[in-house]
Amino acid sequence: MKVLITGVTGFVGSHLADYVLENCRGVELFGLYRWRSRTENIEHSRQFFEMIECDLRDASSVRKVINKIRPDRIFHLAAQSFVPSSWNAPTESVVINVIGQINIFEAIREVGIDPWIQIACSSEEYGMVYSGEIPIKETNPLRPLSPYAVSKVGQDLLGYQYSMSYGLKVIRTRGFNHTGPRRGAVFVCSDFARQIVEIEKGLRKPVIMVGNLEAKRDFTDVRDMVHAYWLALEGNCVPGEVYNISSGKCWEIREVLEMLLEMTDAEIEIRQDKNRLRPSDVPILLGDNFKFRQATGWEPMIPFQKTLRDILEYWRCRIN
Ligand code: GDD
Repeated sequence: MKVLITGVTGFVGSHLADYVLENCRGVELFGLYRWRSRTENIEHSRQFFEMIECDLRDASSVRKVINKIRPDRIFHLAAQSFVPSSWNAPTESVVINVIGQINIFEAIREVGIDPWIQIACSSEEYGMVYSGEIPIKETNPLRPLSPYAVSKVGQDLLGYQYSMSYGLKVIRTRGFNHTGPRRGAVFVCSDFARQIVEIEKGLRKPVIMVGNLEAKRDFTDVRDMVHAYWLALEGNCVPGEVYNISSGKCWEIREVLEMLLEMTDAEIEIRQDKNRLRPSDVPILLGDNFKFRQATGWEPMIPFQKTLRDILEYWRCRIN
């Protein structure tokens, strides 16, 4: 079986590659990357799969690659995934996320293959959620609060539309927050952990800069998340349908910070940085994962405290 991961050099893509290489027999693995992609996340694994250069914004490039590989399964993880960047460069987020996915879908149709496709949609799509709507089910209205979230609504609904119009076997996964080692340093857990480690190593004054600590997020370890993505194409998920993937527990960002601070001996002052506040921030994301668990038998296994400890260790090893 041929498996293709878009965004294989990224945080989630590299963990999915690890999962496939360790657990899935009889798989020929391919990964797409852009020529400027940093490859540090896959240095340990890249000799075990084929890397192919492709820019998802370029339809002809995508068509060539899909025709060459003719994959049986596609995990579409490549994206502009940082919410704040989408305010600075909204067009870029929409082009990479929406047009990139259209190019994959159209290439599949033109080449005439019939793969299973997982698309990484996002809990950010729910956006403004009211108190009576928690935990959030897949049927909740989508009220996106950032250009990024709108781009993910676009991907999500295109997944539905291509499935209904052309019978593409698309599984739409709405991933709630996920984190772990290799998480980009701009995302909250990694950002805080990296600052703590820089303070431990004397590279920064003992002050941690933070944004909105009142937001609440439902975190899953990335290693549980990629297992879920694999099961999304392996279990009884229905093409065209959407599935929340979440831990079902949420934490205030202030609690996340406190947990991390308990894991260090350093004395650290907390300071809010106005530049870290967003024009609008989703107040709470807590997912109802019943539909996905029923379809696949998936359960998150890794406690959040372990995830946070692993992120700290990751930065302690990387920063000298
Ligand atoms: N990054 C960051 N840095 N976030 C902070 C900080 C800070 O210093 N202080 C507070 N926060 C808050 C943010 O305002 C947000 O409410 C929360 O921490 C999480 O921020 P991020 O880690 O940047 O993630 P996100 O929730 O915006 O988006 C992530 O999850 C989505 C799924 O819900 C990303 O991984 C998206 O790609 C993903 O779709």
